[in-house]
Amino acid sequence: MSEPFDYSGRTVFVAGGTSGINLAVARAFARAGAAVAVLSRSPGKVRAAVEGLRALGGPAEGFEADVRDFDAVATAVAAARERLGEFDVLISGAAGNFPAAAADMSARAFAAVVDIDLKGTYNVLRASYEHLRKPGAAVVNISAPQSTVPMELQVHACAAKAGVDMVTRVCALEWGPAGVRVNAVVPGPIAGTEGMARLAPTPELEQVVTGSVPLGRYGDVQEIADCCLWLASPLAAYVTGAVVPVDGGWSLGGASQVFSDMRRLFTGP
Ligand code: HXC
Ligand code: NAP
Repeated sequence: MSEPFDYSGRTVFVAGGTSGINLAVARAFARAGAAVAVLSRSPGKVRAAVEGLRALGGPAEGFEADVRDFDAVATAVAAARERLGEFDVLISGAAGNFPAAAADMSARAFAAVVDIDLKGTYNVLRASYEHLRKPGAAVVNISAPQSTVPMELQVHACAAKAGVDMVTRVCALEWGPAGVRVNAVVPGPIAGTEGMARLAPTPELEQVVTGSVPLGRYGDVQEIADCCLWLASPLAAYVTGAVVPVDGGWSLGGASQVFSDMRRLFTGP
């Protein structure tokens, strides 16, 4: 199916764009006509993502880098700009997660998630700013309900994604005068993703999550991609600094208790 947006002649860079939600976002922009670059650590995932993107018809490039390594990110974004032109859209979505209690996880475990999600987001935005087409570029960060909802077993992700939301807002303030919009999407629990495989790895736990979502179901990766397509488009020309939930209403209440319920299922009362 073609997308209801036209991104032909546009360049989109997706950090962490080689699997799950971010790959679906990259593919949606490619279907809408954009030239797309993706970046992640695994050579195999980068190769497979680029092959899939090229099969959709447009130019696509892939880069191996760890978002924790600023110099590697800067080298990759410079190469992407060289091959595909200035970026019209920047998506930053690399992240790591696992369930672990605050009193049990190691300091290195906490740091790993903060370094990938929060510092990685900053690295990607900082390295890309000079390569954004100004005015007119749009940045979309991929946040999570953990950014506003305290969840058991998620102290690392809650701290990191709260920071991602504030990076979004501050960069919106600073970059607005240059004509660059900066927003974030907050996916709820999304079907078929690594994130939910880690946080709700059994059908029983999936049901606990589903029961906590007002719309009563997991979301689909395309529903996140659709919001990114809109946020980066002229239809959202007056939207900046927004942190937009696409979560079936999960963060209105259900998300705050669900990991406590799940922890009891994991470990007993
Ligand atoms: C406790 C853990 C752990 C776990 C790793 N660690 N997994 N601690 N429980 N399950 C600890 C390690 O023991 C180590 O600490 C430290 O974390 C760093 O681990 P490494 O394996 O050396 O790190 P690294 O190779 O950099 O890998 C980063 C990672 C990994 C985050 C740990 O899982 C990863 O690469 N994840 C990317 C894919 C992913 O997570 N996708 C889901 C995103 S979903 P010590 O002290 O032993 O050295 C998401 C939100 C979902 O973000 C929201 C849903 C609502
Ligand atoms: P995923 O498939 O694991 O996607 C993570 C992507 O980031 C992969 O392409 C991964 O590729 C890359 N990545 C991870 N660590 C990296 C690093 N250090 N440097 C560079 N790239 C790195 O996970 P997902 O579940 O689809 O989640 C995608 C995004 O949505 C994340 O930002 C997550 O927080 C957010 N989110 C997900 C859910 C959900 O239901 N799944 C809910 C809310 C928010 P490599 O392994 O090759 O590096």
